[in-house]
Amino acid sequence: MKQVLKAPRALGGEVSPPGDKSISHRAVILNGIARGDARVSNFAESADCLATVACMRALGVQIEPIKGGLVVKGVGDGGLKEAGDVLCAENSATTMRLLAGLLAAQPFVSVITGDESLRSRPMDRVIQPLRLMGAQIWGRSGDSRAPLVIKGGHLHGIQYELPVASAQLKSALLLAGLFAEGETVIKEPIASRDHTERMLKAMGAKIEVKQDIITLSSSRLKAMDIFVPGDISSAAFWLLAGVIHNRADIRLKNIGINPTRSGIIDVLNSMGANLVVENERLMSGEPVADLKVRSSRLSGLEISGQLIPRVIDEIPLIALAASVASGKTVIRDAGELRVKESDRISTTVKELLKLGANVRELPDGMVINGQERLRGAACDSHGDHRLAMMLGVAALVAEGETEIDNAEAVNISYPRFWQDLKRLSAAK
Ligand code: S3P
Repeated sequence: MKQVLKAPRALGGEVSPPGDKSISHRAVILNGIARGDARVSNFAESADCLATVACMRALGVQIEPIKGGLVVKGVGDGGLKEAGDVLCAENSATTMRLLAGLLAAQPFVSVITGDESLRSRPMDRVIQPLRLMGAQIWGRSGDSRAPLVIKGGHLHGIQYELPVASAQLKSALLLAGLFAEGETVIKEPIASRDHTERMLKAMGAKIEVKQDIITLSSSRLKAMDIFVPGDISSAAFWLLAGVIHNRADIRLKNIGINPTRSGIIDVLNSMGANLVVENERLMSGEPVADLKVRSSRLSGLEISGQLIPRVIDEIPLIALAASVASGKTVIRDAGELRVKESDRISTTVKELLKLGANVRELPDGMVINGQERLRGAACDSHGDHRLAMMLGVAALVAEGETEIDNAEAVNISYPRFWQDLKRLSAAK
């Protein structure tokens, strides 16, 4: 599907992005293995989270749609069943990596695969530590790629320092650790999103987090109703549209602002954005707020180190902001972007160049020199949802017409994206 867009005169209104993708996956997986029924409200009905639902159903968990969400009927300890066929995580690395940890501890055989993009992404990062826990798990291409074959069984806890800051890897090991003998102790090089830790604690797991060390002992979980906050990684597209368009006023309600995810707010504030965070509160153990943005004058900045995992999914958008900001922006320490749904350093640079941006690739980031305007061009999402949406936002400020090929990629995390974009563009 192709989208053809022109910059609107004004952008405005209220928008509710879908429920958080990371929290939705975890709400279904953890409630699926808990004792009792749980209601998951504002569940993200996007392709990635539906892949998790399909896999959990194939493993014997009943999941029923209700108005505004799902009911997950937890099977309790030892309740998962061997699937009758290959499990498919589609495009979702969160599904595959988290389930790899869970399945390594179940007394049956599982095979899990994914689409072409997911089958090209690194899985050795989960295979290796799970093997240290005693798992029998294999992958294609020298145990580094999916499909994965898992002969689940008895695991023991380990002490493990993550070689990369990855919440998916951390969560895979925590899921395995729930069933392992002895303690699982994980040290993070840099803090990554902590939704799994928060949810495990709230569901009664024996988990302790002290600075960068997480300690978990084998635990049984109690089902927990969860209200999934709006996804800050989806809200980020409208935050950006609001600050770079010259006649914009956008409001977003109930957005998750977990500090391990909210780096985009800090980055936009440091660039000079007219951005207000209000009504901060806790919902199902996660911090939530309402956000407001207006047209702003941005300036470039340097980002690296500890901040990177807090903005990892928003870097294509930060590159867009930098392309129309004054001065220079340097993004470093973001090599992980090369193993996302696409090589997001190369695809972001390639597409922004088509729009006339002054941007250059680094091995672990980008250098961008800001300029007045972008100009419309024929672009491609490379099948990557975040690229498709970043290009959609770029089209809102570019001169002339922008075409976005493979625009249906938005279905991965934000199926209503194009409708929301058109609604906000109809503002007077
Ligand atoms: C996610 C973790 C991050 C993020 C991805 C979702 C999660 O990946 O980029 O979109 O839900 O745990 P890594 O774990 O590879 O850092």
